[in-house]
Order: sequence, then C-alpha cells, then structure tokens
Amino acid sequence: MKNNYSHKSVLLEEVISGLNLKEDGLYVDCTMGGAGHSLEILKKVNKGHLCCFDQDTDCIEIARKKLSSIGENFTIVKDNFRNIKKRLLELGIEKVDGVLYDLGVSSYQFDTPERGFSYNYDSYLDMRMDQENNLTAYDVVNSYDYDKLCDIFYKYGEEKFSSSIAKNIVRQREIKKIETTFELVEVIKKSIPAAVKRKEGHPAKKIFQAIRIEVNDELKAFEQSLKDSITMLEKGGRIAVISFHSLEDRICKTIFKEKVEVVIPKNVPILDKDIKREFRLVSKKPIIASEVELNLNNRAHSAKLRILEKIKQEV
Ligand SMILES: C[S@@+](CC[C@H](N)C(=O)[O-])C[C@H]1O[C@@H](n2cnc3c(N)ncnc32)[C@H](O)[C@@H]1O
Repeated sequence: MKNNYSHKSVLLEEVISGLNLKEDGLYVDCTMGGAGHSLEILKKVNKGHLCCFDQDTDCIEIARKKLSSIGENFTIVKDNFRNIKKRLLELGIEKVDGVLYDLGVSSYQFDTPERGFSYNYDSYLDMRMDQENNLTAYDVVNSYDYDKLCDIFYKYGEEKFSSSIAKNIVRQREIKKIETTFELVEVIKKSIPAAVKRKEGHPAKKIFQAIRIEVNDELKAFEQSLKDSITMLEKGGRIAVISFHSLEDRICKTIFKEKVEVVIPKNVPILDKDIKREFRLVSKKPIIASEVELNLNNRAHSAKLRILEKIKQEV
C-alpha cells in the first residue's frame, strides 16, 4: 500500500452545499475513498453523525486518521454500499438526512499499478475494489466465453469492436493465458482498425471500463443501494450522486425520475399545484464542474452531480 492517498475530490463545494447539511444530522458517505468529501461533511456536522462506507481496505486507516482530526462522531463500515440498509439497521439507524455517492474508483486506486485498473501500467489483471472479492479481471478475461465477453464489452463499455476484441481474446488465451494489463492492451490494439485507433483516446479505455464494471458488479450494486437509500431518507433529506459515465448516470436519472413523477390517471381533474409530491429534483439538469475545477482536475470533466430531495410536507 502506498503511504500517500492522493485523490482530488470532485465537485466538493457543490456536494457540500447540495446536501444542505444540518449540524445535528445523520449522513452517509457511501464512497469514502480518501475522505475528501467526508472530511468537509464532518466539519459541518459537528453535533450529528457520519457513516462512511468503502469496500477497499487500503483507504480505511488513512481516512480514519483524517476524520479523527475533526471529531469522533463518525463510523467507518468496510463493506459494499449495496448492503447499506442492512448495515445501517445493524447500527440502529433507520432514517438518514443525506447520502452521498461519488462513484467509480479513486485516483489512488487507478494510479496504484498493482491494483491493475490502469492500461498505463503493466500489472497483473486484478481490478478488484474489494481485495476480498473472488472474481478478478484475470478470471473474466481468461474464463468468460466469447458471447459473455461480447456482451459485457458492448453493454458496459459501449465498444463498437466488442466482437473482434472478444474473438482475439479467446484466440490468444488458447495459446497462452492473458495475465497482465499490457498483454490485454496488445490484444485490444490488434483488434481495432488503425484509423479508429488514431482518432479516439486510448484504445483500451472502454474495454478496461467494461471489465472493471463486471469485476465489481458496479451497476447492480449502485442500483440496489440507491433504491434502498431512498427508502431511508428523512423528510427534507437529500441524496447526491456523482457519476462518471453514461451507464451510471442513466441509472440515477431513471430512479430519481420514477420518484419525482406522479402518474395521474386520465380524466382526473387535478391541477399541478394541487399534486402532493414526495420527492423533488434539486436541479433539473445535472450539476457539472466549473471552468476553474476543470483546469485543476482532469477527472472532473466527465462528472455529473444529481440531487434528489424528500420533500418536507407543510402541515
Ligand atoms: C471516487 S472514489 C471516492 C473519493 C472520495 N469521495 C474523496 O473525496 O476522497 C470512490 C470510492 O468508492 C469506493 N467504492 C466504489 N464502489 C463501491 C461500492 N459498491 N461499495 C463500497 N465502496 C465503493 C471505492 O473503493 C473508492 O474508494
């Protein structure tokens, strides 16, 4: 494990103001990582409590140290956030005032070569956020059949050359197992036409994204967790989600939309102002990073923040 956990938090100010923090509130950071967001939440929630989830052992002690410098009113849960409801109930928590998701991997995870997330470093094909997880990128690449590989490359990577890449992976591993990130990059490069390779970013980007999503079951975990955390929201509470690609954003947008929309049967004479809504979107369009942040943090370019509020009904 590296000593310095470097990760620049994305949309930090927007998240802090978007969560509308109360000093005595109960908040959950589902993706603690380097505790960048958690730290700022804790500073404002000095009489409340903060629960932080992360499935990666590497960040836990570093984050604990950082948070302890602010206060002791926090709990770190080393688990997948898909278990949010179960774990919070075990802690005696039934309702929360706010939840944050800052999805994906941290810069620390991405830039630690031996974690195997990056096509820029040569390393064993790992890509697990949770080091106790059984499935690794090596297993996906060397044991999934052609159809399953095509399917995940297409669904999770939106890769046009899914079929040719899957075919070449299957052919290559019959000669010798694909063990490292660079061996995989070579197979991908061979499967994409030269003209395309010259035009569009790194040729392995989409496939690495797809394998990472599969290894960590990222989309299903997020969908399940988001649905559960909405049910635990206190009136006036908010859920903030930072997503980094269209698949995550689509899940968030769809779930939030279902909560906000009120379906009125045809021919029922009711005015919009008379409809009692349970939830509202804090901003119609997703919040994106400012020019200043974009210049300072490359990761911020693809970040989108959506916030849902459970409306406090007037009595
Ligand atoms: C983008 S980083 C968060 C960075 C953090 N907000 C900060 O400012 O330092 C995402 C973190 O969430 C964790 N993570 C991603 N998916 C998770 C899941 N399903 N359950 C628990 N932790 C998860 C990763 O291990 C990683 O540490």
